[in-house]
Amino acid sequence: MTTTTIELKPSSNPLSDAEREAILASPGFGRHFTDHMVTIKWTEGRGWHDAQLTPYAPLSIDPANMTLHYAQEIFEGLKAYRRPDGSVATFRPEANAKRFQISAHRMAMPELPVDVFVAACDALVQQDKAWVPAHGGEASLYLRPFMIATEVGLGVKPANEYLFLVIASPAGPYFPGGVKPVSIWLSEDRVRAVPGGIGFAKTGGNYAASLLAQAEAAAHGCAQVAYLDAVEHRWVEELGGMNLYFVYGDKIVTPELTGSLLAGITRDSLLKLARDLGYEAEEGRVSIDQWKRDTENGTLTEVFACGTAAVITPVGTVKSAGGEWTQANGEPGKVTLELRKRLLDIQTGAADDPHGWVHVI
Ligand code: PLP
Ligand code: COI
Repeated sequence: MTTTTIELKPSSNPLSDAEREAILASPGFGRHFTDHMVTIKWTEGRGWHDAQLTPYAPLSIDPANMTLHYAQEIFEGLKAYRRPDGSVATFRPEANAKRFQISAHRMAMPELPVDVFVAACDALVQQDKAWVPAHGGEASLYLRPFMIATEVGLGVKPANEYLFLVIASPAGPYFPGGVKPVSIWLSEDRVRAVPGGIGFAKTGGNYAASLLAQAEAAAHGCAQVAYLDAVEHRWVEELGGMNLYFVYGDKIVTPELTGSLLAGITRDSLLKLARDLGYEAEEGRVSIDQWKRDTENGTLTEVFACGTAAVITPVGTVKSAGGEWTQANGEPGKVTLELRKRLLDIQTGAADDPHGWVHVI
């Protein structure tokens, strides 16, 4: 199946306009879901089949479903924004589709064709367009495509059947403080991913592995965990759900893709946008000692986190068992804010899209 026909079975009782508007007035993140979802099945020997758009509803799962036991699961995250003319667009959905294939391959799952992934997202956004928040703010409709194994059985092997789904959730800022700098907990002993492992795949296990350190971070008043490489415990990799950028005056640096961190689409977009704005932008290695030292000697002027959910969020205080330090006096930096505005303006259609990233639905 390379061109998809998605059978439309719309809900006969979607939420009322008033109920939907009440949710859109204060959506939070990932707490409310739209009226519909897309499902596509995959069966060994048959491939992808039965693409449907149906009312959003619980799944019925056998207790011996393989995903529940061995975590063969992958997901994506992308946002649809309302444009000034009222139309709606997603940002680089083909890049998410390609990363979904990379994740699928690593987790021994079938690869969904890029055009089918994009068509599934488009169909859901088209159907639930009224759920896309108004232009002008930063709220969006967050799309969560994902795939689970559906074979029933306890043998450890790649499953022979899968279900791909797309659900959607109106989203305000990921961090309740908005662009206020977040505090980061530096995990010196717990690692997120290892060389040869699954760190580059967007699969639930990486997030499960991050939760204990995330709880420790919260106990220290921090919003996210910064992970170091698993071998030397020295090189900064990423946060639990975001990539990192280090700003040295007119130069920005992001940790290189070693295989144990996620190749963020926001990260990639910023390498290009920063160069458009006249900054030097590069991938490299940043050690934890360098992060602390260069903050203290004033050469590292700003640090920010980036990702679909977080957009660009400044980093304020970095805490660890051995002490703490603060970036840019705990204020959002100038470069951080400039890049943030440029990215959001493109994503929301407030500015031109020189790289052809915006996908109008
Ligand atoms: N790193 C991790 C672990 C993530 O979960 C995410 C979010 O998707 C990112 C980085 C940023 O990726 P993207 O910019 O594609 O959303
Ligand atoms: C995203 O940014 O889409 C993610 O998946 C990260 C997660 C922290 C919500």
